[in-house]
Amino acid sequence: MNLNILQMKKIIAFVFVACICMQVQAVALLDEPIVPIPEAKFDAPLQVELGRLLFNDVRLSAGAQVSCASCHSLKMGGADAQVVSVGVHGRQGDINSPSIFNSSLNFRQFWNGRAATLLEQVDGPITNVKEMDFSWPQVLAILQRDDFYVAQFAQAYPDGLTIQNMRRAIVSFEKSLLTPNSRFDQFLKGDKEAISDNELKGYELFKQYGCSSCHQGVLVGGNLYQKFGALGDYFQDRGYITSADYGRFAVTGREQDRFVFKVPSLRNVALTAPYFHDGTQTTLAGAVNIMMQYQLGVIPQEQDVLFIIDFLRTLTGEYQGKLLQGISQ
Ligand code: HEC
Ligand code: HEC
Repeated sequence: MNLNILQMKKIIAFVFVACICMQVQAVALLDEPIVPIPEAKFDAPLQVELGRLLFNDVRLSAGAQVSCASCHSLKMGGADAQVVSVGVHGRQGDINSPSIFNSSLNFRQFWNGRAATLLEQVDGPITNVKEMDFSWPQVLAILQRDDFYVAQFAQAYPDGLTIQNMRRAIVSFEKSLLTPNSRFDQFLKGDKEAISDNELKGYELFKQYGCSSCHQGVLVGGNLYQKFGALGDYFQDRGYITSADYGRFAVTGREQDRFVFKVPSLRNVALTAPYFHDGTQTTLAGAVNIMMQYQLGVIPQEQDVLFIIDFLRTLTGEYQGKLLQGISQ
């Protein structure tokens, strides 16, 4: 190929501009308060599969009545669409079930952050009298009589079926439950067509109002604690107080932690109604209105709320290559 000087110059200029564009794009991505969810790694398929089986196994509960999946259904955005969850013997819980999707990316587990890791968290539902009301030794005794589990655990772990390995298997499964590739993440990665003008407007408003000062990072939440009612007394206006409302106060006993909660992730939030730890809001509009009033101290403007909801819907991601399912609004 024969290139004259002018053609060479054009090519050099093109490459130069392309490099600058790529850099600008990378910087733009870094500047955003939200970052994309990584792809899930499947480096231990046997452990993940055992965790999946345990997660769906009612024998982890007293009288074999409920499984983890009863309250964290992968078909309901990883939650259960109830105000509060229902455990064994139809016992009503005290608090709304959060989504199990992406939970491995939370900085702490539970609404009040009382478990530091998923491995620590997993003991909670097993022994909670309003959830599974059982114990690990009881689960072990039952599953030791199941030849399939015994054989599979022997393959997956050197020391076979043990309490610690059941806990580990469930955590392996939980770590596989990431939901990458939402339309918003595609947008963050540079596909400007992935979201509509209204959805983009909603994102701009989300930042301008200051929602992103609390809901940010890879989970659009899940990385800090905040008081529910930072700029207004939510609980007084709601009219009653339960022990679940105490938030981190129940963990630390410090007065300044009363009503303080882990800021929840907004990933897949369109699929996980009802909202808040008390499950009182059945729609995103209701939840966003409360946030404006009590977390930001502003009077909600209806049109802005609608734009923000458009944006929140773009946060629905994919599990195993398929757009996540749920009770959509
Ligand atoms: C009866 C319903 C129910 C069952 C059964 C149940 N959970 Fe939960 N789960 C909940 C509720 C409600 C919460 C919130 C509790 C809180 O924050 O105080 C929760 C919280 C969690 C969290 C923390 C998520 C976050 O965002 O903080 C994880 C992880 C979790 N459960 C995993 C499990 C696993 C694993 C099992 C089975 C061993 C299980 N759950 C069984 C209802 C249930
Ligand atoms: C000062 C921190 C803060 C700000 C600002 C904030 N939030 Fe929140 N958000 C929270 C906390 C804390 C909760 C959990 C409240 C509870 O249930 O205890 C929450 C919960 C939510 C929920 C319910 C999630 C669920 O799964 O139940 C939605 C939706 C939400 N926020 C959206 C927004 C939007 C939209 C804005 C901006 C208009 C916003 N938030 C501003 C801290 C904040």
